[in-house]
Order: sequence, then structure tokens, then C-alpha cells
Amino acid sequence: MDYLTLSEIAKRARQNLSKNVWDYLIGGADTESSIRRNRHGVDSWVFRPRILNEVSSVNARSEFLGVPLRLPVLLAPIGSVQVFESGGAASVAKAAKEFGVLQILSSVCTPEFEALAQQVPGPRIFQLYLLGDEAWMDDIIARSIEAGYTAFCLTADTQTYSRRERDIMKRYIPRSGRQVSVADFGYQSSMTWKTVEHIKSKFDIPLMIKGVAVAEDAERCVASGVDVVYVSNHGGRQLDHTRACIDVLPEVVAAVDGRVPVVVDGGFMRGADIVKGLCLGATAVGMGRLQALAMAAGGEPVVLRALEILEHEVLTTMALMGISDIKDLNGELLEKVEPISHAHVLSAFPLLEEGY
Ligand SMILES: Cc1cc2nc3c(=O)[nH]c(=O)nc-3n(C[C@H](O)[C@H](O)[C@H](O)COP(=O)(O)O)c2cc1C
Repeated sequence: MDYLTLSEIAKRARQNLSKNVWDYLIGGADTESSIRRNRHGVDSWVFRPRILNEVSSVNARSEFLGVPLRLPVLLAPIGSVQVFESGGAASVAKAAKEFGVLQILSSVCTPEFEALAQQVPGPRIFQLYLLGDEAWMDDIIARSIEAGYTAFCLTADTQTYSRRERDIMKRYIPRSGRQVSVADFGYQSSMTWKTVEHIKSKFDIPLMIKGVAVAEDAERCVASGVDVVYVSNHGGRQLDHTRACIDVLPEVVAAVDGRVPVVVDGGFMRGADIVKGLCLGATAVGMGRLQALAMAAGGEPVVLRALEILEHEVLTTMALMGISDIKDLNGELLEKVEPISHAHVLSAFPLLEEGY
């Protein structure tokens, strides 16, 4: 199918997935309030567009850790991405490469990091969950450097696995199988700032910390030599009752004060959402569920198509705001208001509710 909108991609994903896999994708922790807040937060910012600026050419290209980006988007790490389409991480990698954005590979995916680097060479970030001791971690980091990874991402909001009631109530264990018991998180839960200092002192690869939720931790990241601060609440899949990530962004950007790039994810589904993140100071925006929806709708070509549609949405939004270059996006172009619709995980696609 020739997809012309992201809504059509989301609709097809729903049709293609079993209830178990669909719930794994859209679900979150406990009452799922963090998911709804993410989306409510994004909807709470509206534009203050400027008129009569020349926008015959609009630029949304940038770079991240020295890698050129056609769009300031990172494909966020999605564990078990192979459950959405059998090519798994390789399908995402090919689409990211062809379009020109960076993929963050989750360590619970197939193909695994070394095989993927061989299969689809190119810049890529590797995200790790600690499933072993320090020697185990050191070995994996050394191998990821050897395999040519651009940066290394440690996810710090998953010290234990949350209670995802959609899965629990169906007695469903997602294929990554990580939901079994808190004991399985022994290594992940013993991760501390010392782990960060250890990695920084031993390895020469940019380090990204994912899961920053307050300015104080952003400050501590920078003080510890972290190279990228990644604001995230894991798409509302870990701690329930968190603030929307877009609402955390301004205090983190202020704390980091331009010393390192800041990435944000959580509820960003559309081109206009990306523009809002950039206005608030993010260097790049991570796309989680949108990437997985595109995978479910048809794998690599649909991930590529979703990126093309996102780009079209970003460029259109910027032109209508009177902004011709992403470097000119700033907080003055936004204002906070009360959203007009009820927020939920798919509320970025309101036409689906009307039966389109
Ligand atoms: C199905 C699924 C699997 C995920 N797996 C991982 C993972 O393995 N590692 C990780 O750091 N984050 C993981 N995340 C969180 C995403 O990287 C990202 O933070 C989140 O999806 C962003 O929110 P969004 O889905 O609203 O875009 C996962 C998210 C989803 C939806």
C-alpha cells in the first residue's frame, strides 16, 4: 500500500498485530498515566507562528555526534522489534540508513549488535541492559567499539521491570521474556553513577544516558562526563505517574546549558511534535512506538515511508511557522495551553477514532 499519512500506517499496524503483541506495543506500567501524560504534554504546547518570512526553502538537516541527520530524529531502542516484523533490527537499520537518521539498537533484539553491524554497516548507537557483571559489560562495550558503533547508550530508568498490567492480566510474557522476576534485574538494579564513571574512565566512545527525568540528574550526567543526556520515561512503560517528557525538557536543557546534546522521547508521533521538541531545546527527538507501528505495518519500506512522511510534516510545519532553518527554532515560538482533546497513546491519530 502506498501510505500517504502516518494515520494509515498506525491503522494497518493494528490490523496486522495479534492482541498480545499490540498490547505489548501500546501498553505501559500500572495505570498507564505516564503514557497519557506524555501525549497530553505534547498537546499542551501550541505554536506562535511568524508571518511574512521567506520560506521557499526549508532546512531540517542537522548532525548528531558528527553524523549527518536528514531529520533530527533518532529511532529509539525497541526491544524484541522482531515481533513486529521478522527482519527485526535489520529492517529498522536499513530504513534508517536509506533515509539518513540514526538507529539506537536495543540489546534485546535480533540480529544482535555484531551481526547487525556486519549486515548493515553504518553509524548506529548501541543500547545496553546490564545482564552481567562489570567484566561482562566491559566485554560488550569493547566489542561494540570494535564493531564500529557511534555511541553507547545506557538505559537508566529500568532498574527493575515494571508491572505491565495488559500483559500480566493475560498471563502473557513478551518474547524478550524480561517480565519474569525482579531477581532477573540483579545487574541492572545494581547500576549506579559509579558504572557511569567506570565506563567514562575506561572507554573512548560517546556515552548516552537514557531515562533522565530531572535537572539534577542531567547536571550530574554532565559532571560525570556523559556525552548525551536523553530525557525519557521509557514511553510510560516503567515508572507510572511521571511528568510528560516534553515538560521535563526545559529544565534539563537549562541545566545542561549547551554543554552536551539533549535528546527527548515520549509521545512524539508527528512532525509537529518533533518541531515542538526542537523549539524547547532538544538536539534530536526519539521515536519509539511510531517506529514499531511502521514495522508492524510492513517492515523496512514502511519505516522508510514513515520517515518521509515525518519529514514532510516537519518541513510543512516549519514553513507555516515562518521558519526556514531548524537552528532558528526557539521557545518563543511556543505557548502552553490546555489541550482540546483527551490524551491517549494513539491520540496523535484522531481520524482513526472516526473510522478512517
Ligand atoms: C515495544 C517497546 C520496546 C521498548 N524497548 C526498549 C529497549 O529495549 N530499551 C530501551 O532503552 N527502551 C525501550 N523502549 C522505550 C523506547 O526506547 C522509548 O523510550 C519510548 O518508546 C518513547 O516513547 P514513544 O513510544 O511514545 O515514542 C521500548 C518501547 C517500546 C514501545
